[in-house]
Amino acid sequence: MGDGRAKLAVRGVTKTFRLRGAPGGGQQFLNVLRGVSFDIRQGEIVSIIGESGCGKTTLLRIVQGLVRLDTGAIEVDGVPVKKPGRDRGFVFQQAGLLPWRTARQNIEFGLELQGVSKAERTQRASELLQLVGLHHAADQLPHQLSGGMQQRVGLARAMAINPEILLMDEPFSALDAQTREVLQAELLRIQAETNKTTLFVTHDLDEAIYLSNRVIVLAAKPGRVKRIVDIPFTHPRPELPELRGDTRFQSIRAEMWDLIRTPAQALAA
Ligand SMILES: Nc1ncnc2c1ncn2[C@@H]1O[C@H](COP(=O)(O)OP(=O)(O)OP(=O)(O)O)[C@@H](O)[C@H]1O
Ligand SMILES: [Mg+2]
Repeated sequence: MGDGRAKLAVRGVTKTFRLRGAPGGGQQFLNVLRGVSFDIRQGEIVSIIGESGCGKTTLLRIVQGLVRLDTGAIEVDGVPVKKPGRDRGFVFQQAGLLPWRTARQNIEFGLELQGVSKAERTQRASELLQLVGLHHAADQLPHQLSGGMQQRVGLARAMAINPEILLMDEPFSALDAQTREVLQAELLRIQAETNKTTLFVTHDLDEAIYLSNRVIVLAAKPGRVKRIVDIPFTHPRPELPELRGDTRFQSIRAEMWDLIRTPAQALAA
């Protein structure tokens, strides 16, 4: 069980994928995650960084309940969860909106599936359009929206079912640097307004430091926690360009960069 304070707890998660048989026949196995553990308290943003293929998306999907773990547990408020649920919303790298539905209709989609009444859907979508700054674009189709606007719709869609936990897999990585920084600041504002609990995957060290209360650095093959780095900046935070000038920011960034570059074997030695 959790210590009573963890909103989301990842406990000793291990996962091995069975791969298709090798040329000579027989099974191959890929141990993708080993003994991954950490806690996130209500209202925190925790980021995961680590080299490509180290198991970040797999871990997020396990938390979501779409990929089954071999051993370990995922707990929400101390209760193990094994399937997707309304308590967890997912935001992807590509917004993946339904192209024939307007921004508003995309946001309402999950609510429709749940049989929520038209009046309530309209009300909820209007609030979310406001929250993500898209009230003026409610009736546009995805192809009429910029990449940044599409990601805002993706975020609003995930928030529509009012999840307590947001799982975000490189949500801003396909955006240009300026749009990305605007959306990072927006995410912090939304987080402050809604007090969600967020697990955020990124390749971008600056993004991880700027957004997070803690950053989990994963080692690869198998994916495991190399270090959990506490980020000391209080909220509200100055914007990223200003934060970059802070010497603490620079030393945390250097520490993370070293961790990512250093092979796990060398750290263990
Ligand atoms: N369903 C699956 N079956 C078999 N192997 C898988 C499956 N899903 C992922 N993998 C493998 O597990 C490893 C980790 O994949 P994952 O997508 O979690 O990495 P990642 O850290 O998110 O990488 P990236 O930073 O490139 O997004 C990879 O080697 C991948 O090929
Ligand atoms: Mg990934």
